[in-house]
Amino acid sequence: MRHKLVVANWKMHGNLVENKRLLAEYCAMLPTLKNTDVVVCVPYPYLAQAQAILQHTNIAWGAQNLSKDAVGAYTGEVSATMLKDFGASYVIIGHSERATAYCESDENIATKFVQAQAHGLTPILCVGETLIEREAGVMQMVVGKQLDTIFNTYGAAVFANAVVSYEPIWAIGTGLAASPEQAQSMHEFIRSKVATLDKAAATNMKILYGGSVNPQNAVQLFVMQDIDGGLIGKCSLNAKEFEGICRAAC
Ligand code: PGA
Repeated sequence: MRHKLVVANWKMHGNLVENKRLLAEYCAMLPTLKNTDVVVCVPYPYLAQAQAILQHTNIAWGAQNLSKDAVGAYTGEVSATMLKDFGASYVIIGHSERATAYCESDENIATKFVQAQAHGLTPILCVGETLIEREAGVMQMVVGKQLDTIFNTYGAAVFANAVVSYEPIWAIGTGLAASPEQAQSMHEFIRSKVATLDKAAATNMKILYGGSVNPQNAVQLFVMQDIDGGLIGKCSLNAKEFEGICRAAC
């Protein structure tokens, strides 16, 4: 059975004082969790703080983006090795808030995915459709195309050590989560698509659901067969709510 995974995505929230308090609350509540791995993805400047506070706990940490390049004259970018310097073990890739606001192409996202893996980071690849695409019934085609860019260049075996997060764009930050059936159906589609190319990778890979997860809806979402946990935005900023979600995954 796959271990459940719950990832906090703090987005652009926090400061040194608030983070210290929130991470201390995470540390106090989370060690009793069984069968659930917990990760917190913080803004770049707080990686050192996350490392200092979390290094001897069972909570891992990571970033919310990385450069597609290894090193060089790329002003403002942060490389995989820099993330490793601060003990990061996960990195979110292709989040729709970045893909739309900073025009990230599927090709760029695919390069970041393998760049992360090449440096020992586990990529959390975000995929998902807009409301218009869902209403038009083309959501599987859209998500399939996002995955194909990686398959076509790097094959499917790379998914064995990766996490995919299905995040319907219409559900992110709206309070309107996908129903467990809608999410399960897409998760099953993603897993079977990987399975047609690499059965072992499909069995090993974790597929998270993200988009307005809260302690109440997490219970129904996380019991679905192909939902291996969640990527949590807003509710990860409140330790009690985040704990509720993590407990729902146990
Ligand atoms: P949300 O964000 O939980 O606030 O909807 C999820 C995400 O964007 O990862």
